[in-house]
Amino acid sequence: MPVRITVLVDNFVPRPGRLMGEYGLSLLVERGDLRILYDTGATGEPLLRNAREMGVDLDRLDYIVLSHRHADHTGGLMRLLEARRGNGPVLVAHHDLFEPALVSDGGRWRDIGAPFTEGDLRNRGIRPLLIREPLKLDEGVWISGEVPRDRGPSHAEGMFRPRDGRMSADDMMDDLALYLKVGDEVVTVTGCGHAGVENIVEHGERLVGGRLGALVGGLHLLHSEDRRIEEVAGYLSSKAPRLVAPLHCTGPRAHWQLSSRMGRAYRLSGAGSIIEYG
Ligand SMILES: [Fe+2]
Ligand SMILES: [Fe+2]
Repeated sequence: MPVRITVLVDNFVPRPGRLMGEYGLSLLVERGDLRILYDTGATGEPLLRNAREMGVDLDRLDYIVLSHRHADHTGGLMRLLEARRGNGPVLVAHHDLFEPALVSDGGRWRDIGAPFTEGDLRNRGIRPLLIREPLKLDEGVWISGEVPRDRGPSHAEGMFRPRDGRMSADDMMDDLALYLKVGDEVVTVTGCGHAGVENIVEHGERLVGGRLGALVGGLHLLHSEDRRIEEVAGYLSSKAPRLVAPLHCTGPRAHWQLSSRMGRAYRLSGAGSIIEYG
């Protein structure tokens, strides 16, 4: 069954006009009748406005999946829940959803984690399904669970969390990808890609049983060294997917590399783009 991905929120708006951009990500992923909202952007304003402008009905969702707890992916959730009518979709996230996510900002800690509490969700009648293991949403549709870090480096430099009373490096184990099987191929959807591109892709191929067909989402190469960007571009061209649509935190240097290395598979996308596969 083909997959359709509508980019509702992204940093980049390819055809400016009535659509809004912000530093964040939100994708509507559809396969047949199944409708999954993957992330909610940073504030909710572009999400609601762009959905309205594009004629996307956010009242009809089966799942809301939060790729990880960073506010540029979770920050639009409360606005969305306030604006929605109809029965609540199932909210799926990692167990660490409510943990602080700290970055150093001029010598001070700044929390860039989810800007709501479990109580806020309960007040809206939402009890999130918090996972660590892979979760099957439908035949051939999986949420990754924690992505093993055995195939390549992760992308979580400069991120910290309190652990046992001490500040320690945050390995962002809450980073969850979404995988959809199309024929014998896998469509891999990432939020920020903190778990590392190779780890995310290989885990999906093993979990769903197929080879990489499409990769859509944030690859978090914005601050990476050129050497690492070349390594990722080399890895992806060796996998020869038919479509790569880098979004959000992929960064301009990675776009240059991928657009020249991936040939016709590379797809420049942003808020307002519709990506169809299969
Ligand atoms: Fe992000
Ligand atoms: Fe992130």
